[in-house]
Amino acid sequence: MKVAGKAMRTIWLEADGVSVGIIDQTRLPHELVTLTLADLDQAAHAIRAMQVRGAPLIGAAAAYGLALAMRHDASDAGLDTACATLMATRPTAVNLRWAIDDMRLVLAPLAPAQRLAKAYARAAEIAEEDVAINRGIAAAGLPLIEVAWAKKNKQGRVDILTHCNAGWLAAVDWGTALAPIYLAHDRGIPVHVWVDETRPRNQGASLTAWELGQHGVPHTVIADNAGGHLMQHGRVDLCIVGTDRTTATGDVANKIGTYLKALAAHDNGVPFYVALPSPTIDWSLSDGVRDIPIEERDPKEVTEISGALTGGGIATVRLVPAGSAAANFAFDVTPARLVTGLITERGVSAASRDGLLKLFPEMKEKRAGE
Ligand code: MRU
Repeated sequence: MKVAGKAMRTIWLEADGVSVGIIDQTRLPHELVTLTLADLDQAAHAIRAMQVRGAPLIGAAAAYGLALAMRHDASDAGLDTACATLMATRPTAVNLRWAIDDMRLVLAPLAPAQRLAKAYARAAEIAEEDVAINRGIAAAGLPLIEVAWAKKNKQGRVDILTHCNAGWLAAVDWGTALAPIYLAHDRGIPVHVWVDETRPRNQGASLTAWELGQHGVPHTVIADNAGGHLMQHGRVDLCIVGTDRTTATGDVANKIGTYLKALAAHDNGVPFYVALPSPTIDWSLSDGVRDIPIEERDPKEVTEISGALTGGGIATVRLVPAGSAAANFAFDVTPARLVTGLITERGVSAASRDGLLKLFPEMKEKRAGE
């Protein structure tokens, strides 16, 4: 996607052919800063500290993290340590496990001397595959926006509510939930996005608003609690969100607060779609509320907030009384019954095992053989 008119991705191989460039997303929207990752520890830190974040990007960053690790120790023990280090960074997004398993499958059978080149090649493929998958999600989701536009007799605009950041900053490019929105905008449909601020880390206010603005997509940032009110007043035509892990039965984990939006959408008859690349499906799980691990992060993300001072500079301030306890659950699970449809690179399916298996029939045999 474009930043100040120039195409940019969230992760890339640097000109030296070994180190990995990223956008430091903790600095957005106030500063566009890029970082160079040179080893496993820097890659693990980037994921843990959310310099890179969003399920698909976490997967791509882990793949490159393994490539960086192979530079220093390509032995079996080195591979095991690198996989374990990266796996421990963030628990909810299953793309992390998917990418690490994929890399391990490719690297483990090779002699250590062959692992480095193969690791870079496979990491680059994973990144390219993510871009292609997200283009597929854009194409699959576009008709849903076209239908909403037709329903309004092509009058006014299509209002879409999204939560957190599931745009190109959360992936390698395009994004998931925002991909159909970018395509609709580029095709001339007047879309407008209600952007949930997404406390506590404000990925909506800081990242979604930034990337939509860079691409010229009209949007309005709203307080997290405003969505229900807007839906009651007919001001949301559809919701599209991303997901960090979707069970084989269509339950979806996404940023904390997603579940409440799904409840409000259900109560108001507003279609609630979840966009996901297939690596986000955890075919081993069938009960998301019970089985998806929910990351708990530093309570300081709740008790403090950072922002730009009007006079320049960035400051962090405390929001709560000194000594008040806080809890920081980073994700919640929306049960499949509240999801109108899953937008994947292969099309839109019902949020159910049958729906997903219709799009991914190869998983029927794979799961049966396990
Ligand atoms: O904690 P984050 O910022 O990594 O959470 C991101 C989200 O919840 C996204 O909605 C999700 O990863 C889907 S990204 C395409």
